[in-house]
Amino acid sequence: MKLSFKNIDKQFSDLPVIKGFDRDIGDGELVALVGPSGCGKSTLLHLVAGLEKPSAGTLLADGKPIKGAHPERMLMFQENALYPWLTLVQNVALALELQKQDKSSALRSARAWLGKVNLAGFEDYFPHQVSGGMRQRAALARAFITNPKALLLDEPFGALDALTRMTLQDVLRQLIRETTPTVLLVTHDVDEALFLADRILVFSARPATVLKEFTLSQQEKSHDLSAFASMRREILGLLGINTEVDNGPPRETAPPSVGTPAAGGVLTADRAESRAAPKFTEEALA
Ligand SMILES: Nc1ncnc2c1ncn2[C@@H]1O[C@H](COP(=O)(O)OP(=O)(O)OP(=O)(O)O)[C@@H](O)[C@H]1O
Ligand SMILES: [Mg+2]
Repeated sequence: MKLSFKNIDKQFSDLPVIKGFDRDIGDGELVALVGPSGCGKSTLLHLVAGLEKPSAGTLLADGKPIKGAHPERMLMFQENALYPWLTLVQNVALALELQKQDKSSALRSARAWLGKVNLAGFEDYFPHQVSGGMRQRAALARAFITNPKALLLDEPFGALDALTRMTLQDVLRQLIRETTPTVLLVTHDVDEALFLADRILVFSARPATVLKEFTLSQQEKSHDLSAFASMRREILGLLGINTEVDNGPPRETAPPSVGTPAAGGVLTADRAESRAAPKFTEEALA
């Protein structure tokens, strides 16, 4: 499904949230949206989902104005995506039942989809009986089972730890390869955007405007994102994250020997090391 945003503005009462958004998203393209909290990223997805209307401009899906919600444009939230009173297989089947498919064939398809996301054996568990990562796997199965033409993913893995998130990114990538929907992915994780996206749009603070657009090469990507280091640095810079090494204030005196408690806020070697460690860990995991 091709999505065309033509000079879209959105405001809520007096609050301008999106200003002059003007982009085409190609059929089967995956575009990641990153930007500061509250800038209007979810709002942009809600416009495509048909939950909100633009204040100005035109929004087209395959050339036709979006008039309301439709299952071919599927929105998936960060969490609480499953009904707690239904088992995983019932949750997934529900998406088909809402489209008037009969219950037994919906349940059969749901079992098959749970298998695809590696949840075979957990079909009859309730959401609270499985881990957060497993819940999001089930939510992915539910999002994909209806074969939507556009998938609107709002921080789908935001609540997961870094390792679980990466395995879920692999699952998502595999499902996208099989079903080729157009995807808009809102994420706060720049590495997730680099790993999954064909294109990344970096937004300003509200009202959201596109600060910069990055097109990623079609080459096969892995979780080793070292080839994208300079793009990563630039995106983080646009988001106001400092990527320079911070050595703290200049030293006025020679540093005390290793192990000596620091005086007056001067970093000792061992404190400097312990400060550097989380950065290494973050880079190793993220
Ligand atoms: N239905 C609504 N009615 C009134 N204001 C709204 C509505 N939806 C969003 N807003 C406001 O629009 C602004 C943008 O919200 P939005 O949820 O799109 O931000 P976001 O970029 O997704 O932020 P985050 O990264 O924190 O999820 C916020 O100030 C929010 O309060
Ligand atoms: Mg949001």
